[in-house]
Amino acid sequence: VIDKVLAIETSCDDTSVALVDRQGRVHGMISQSQDAFHEPFGGIVPEIACRNHSLVLLGLVDQLLRTTGYSFKDIDGFAVTNRPGLVGSLIVGIVTAKTLAQAHAKPLIGVNHLEGHILAPFLQDDQYSSGENFGARPFVCLAVSGGHTSLYHVQNLGTYKVLGATLDDAAGEAFDKFGKMLGLGWPGGSRIDLLSKTGNKKAFDLPRSMIKEDHFLFSFSGLKSSAQRLIESLPVAEVPPRLADLSASFQEAVVDVLISKLQKAIEAHKVELVAVTGGVSANSRLRERAQELAVRKGVKLIIPPMKYCTDNAAMIGLAGVLRLQRGERHELNLGPSPSSWVDDFQGTP
Ligand code: KG4
Ligand code: ZN
Repeated sequence: VIDKVLAIETSCDDTSVALVDRQGRVHGMISQSQDAFHEPFGGIVPEIACRNHSLVLLGLVDQLLRTTGYSFKDIDGFAVTNRPGLVGSLIVGIVTAKTLAQAHAKPLIGVNHLEGHILAPFLQDDQYSSGENFGARPFVCLAVSGGHTSLYHVQNLGTYKVLGATLDDAAGEAFDKFGKMLGLGWPGGSRIDLLSKTGNKKAFDLPRSMIKEDHFLFSFSGLKSSAQRLIESLPVAEVPPRLADLSASFQEAVVDVLISKLQKAIEAHKVELVAVTGGVSANSRLRERAQELAVRKGVKLIIPPMKYCTDNAAMIGLAGVLRLQRGERHELNLGPSPSSWVDDFQGTP
């Protein structure tokens, strides 16, 4: 049996390592954010991201083993994100995982980063458990982060039907770009969330793209341009006192669209379980509205704790251990891919 895997996630700008077993129990996880390095540039600089991964990754693996008390002989395999992501960043994790697998003669599996986000709600530790077993019943998953905005219908391992995704910007990206327009720094999502608490969400009328349409596609570029025009139309001196109203109105527009599509997905697929994952699921208004929706529809909602919502290795470990356990392996020629593999998901949005 494959029980415990060591997992590595370096697909974007967070470096993360974790030890996970096949029940989804997280025996240890260390994640290191690089936000401070990218903030001066107002976005992720790929070269800085992969350089930082290469500087810290081995140290984090060491620290993980020391703090959990495990040694390599307790580990049954290695899981690593190899797609989709920034190729330079992915390579750092892949080369490290391959080397460890080779050196310790243990199996290796490359994992799709988005599959990780889909499985994250089913992780567990001393503080958190959804009470659900992955694969026990179908669910709808809304994955919203800086890089992705997708709705999935999930049956079990490897059966992920893409209901829809964004045609342009991801929801988190939209938050971050709006934050930049307001001069809130980067990434702006959490600051917009905070400001919105004291703002009037009806202060400004912003578009909800394709909200009425009977499909699950998203688009946030129209909202972004409208927000830009709105800010430019205000007298410069009026922007600072209206930051909270601007934030609340923008946030409500994003959340309205996400919730309305999520509701349609629940109705279309008659599921009893719904999950929201990805960095944007930290958004307090999205959480509130998702909870309201779940109550109204009589479904169970799971949103994992923040450390499993943002990019992390534990979610990669769970996908990896389940795949290794059912016999899947990758050879040492495993490489990075900027996009998903054709068979990773069913249905093209
Ligand atoms: O999952 P994540 O850490 O990285 C990606 O895979 O992209 O997500 C980061 C994104 C950023 O765009 C950030 O602004 C957004 O999640 N975010 C939020 C909040 N906290 C983080 N967006 C809205 N409200 C928040 N509270
Ligand atoms: Zn992600």
